[in-house]
Amino acid sequence: MVIFLVGFMGCGKSTVARGLAEFAGWEFVDLDRRVCELAGASDVAEIFATRGEEEFRRLEREAIESLAFTGDAVVATGGGAPCYGDNMERLMRLGKTVYLKMSPLALRDRLLHVRVVRPKIVGMSPEELLDYVTGLLAEREKYYSRARVVVDCDNIPSRVIISRLKYLVASASRR
Ligand code: S3P
Repeated sequence: MVIFLVGFMGCGKSTVARGLAEFAGWEFVDLDRRVCELAGASDVAEIFATRGEEEFRRLEREAIESLAFTGDAVVATGGGAPCYGDNMERLMRLGKTVYLKMSPLALRDRLLHVRVVRPKIVGMSPEELLDYVTGLLAEREKYYSRARVVVDCDNIPSRVIISRLKYLVASASRR
């Protein structure tokens, strides 16, 4: 069984996915890492800079397709991954989807600390970042909110979110 965590940049997908995978004894998969491996790049920023976003999205799709051959795993997807083509349907077919939902303000505050490694937001002022997050989240919400499970994450520590999701692992092992 595969659990896919979806949600905006900075909502904590990687931390929660890693913690849940550790609890379950399942593989942790970082979709951005898979894309980098496919591209032979050291990070996402390098792919955006040298090959452009369109090529990044093509590789991202390929990385999602490769997950059809994964065993038990928790996957942290990239923030844009469910929002292109039929990626969200594909994720929903391949496993259980979970949306880590956060407000624009909470996302902005978290992203202020990590802008450098995220090519889409590097160099933005706090005000620009809030506008950007608000606008893009409004577009993406319709994809994210199709997830089977929606978890409100504002002001909730990752360890609590991990605890709240443990039942998904338990229900998988009862199948
Ligand atoms: C992106 C989010 C990033 C990464 C890429 C594009 C997006 O993943 O896939 O920089 O379009 O929102 P994270 O959500 O893990 O930061």
